[in-house]
Amino acid sequence: MARRLIIIAPDRRLKVRSTPVETVDDSVRALLDDMLETMYAEDGIGLAAIQVGVPKRLVVADVHLKDQPPAPIKMINPELLWQGDETLLHEEGCLSLPDQFAEVERPSKARVRYLDETGIQQEREFEGVTAICLQHELDHLEGILFVDHISAVRRSIILRRLQKLKRVEAVGA
Ligand code: NI
Repeated sequence: MARRLIIIAPDRRLKVRSTPVETVDDSVRALLDDMLETMYAEDGIGLAAIQVGVPKRLVVADVHLKDQPPAPIKMINPELLWQGDETLLHEEGCLSLPDQFAEVERPSKARVRYLDETGIQQEREFEGVTAICLQHELDHLEGILFVDHISAVRRSIILRRLQKLKRVEAVGA
């Protein structure tokens, strides 16, 4: 396993629509493991492959409580089958938008179909923060960031702040 470099917004690559994985093989499994390692190292609860520069439909997540053992989720070609009517307003962040947070409203339940790491089709219903997190990750596969769900004014404030941060880091390097 190896940690990967996370792409920081604003970056064109994060706007790309990811393409389906054709074969679930060792290279896909290795990438999923790298994504999980990267996510844990950065204290994230979810990560999509495009965030490490791979435009494939792969998502990892782990939304376990602090006193519970890890509960990694690995999804290949996930599809949102259904979203509940009730919504939740939740403060979201993203490893591609470090230290930026905003409240986003999303359905509190979601049903997802995906292939697991052995290539077997699974279908699961998620709720609460896990459902929120997975809808956020599935958005990444369409090139959508959580800031695309907030007002244009707030979005541009956040993206400008990140742009400035990147310039400072580029000068410092
Ligand atoms: Ni994200």
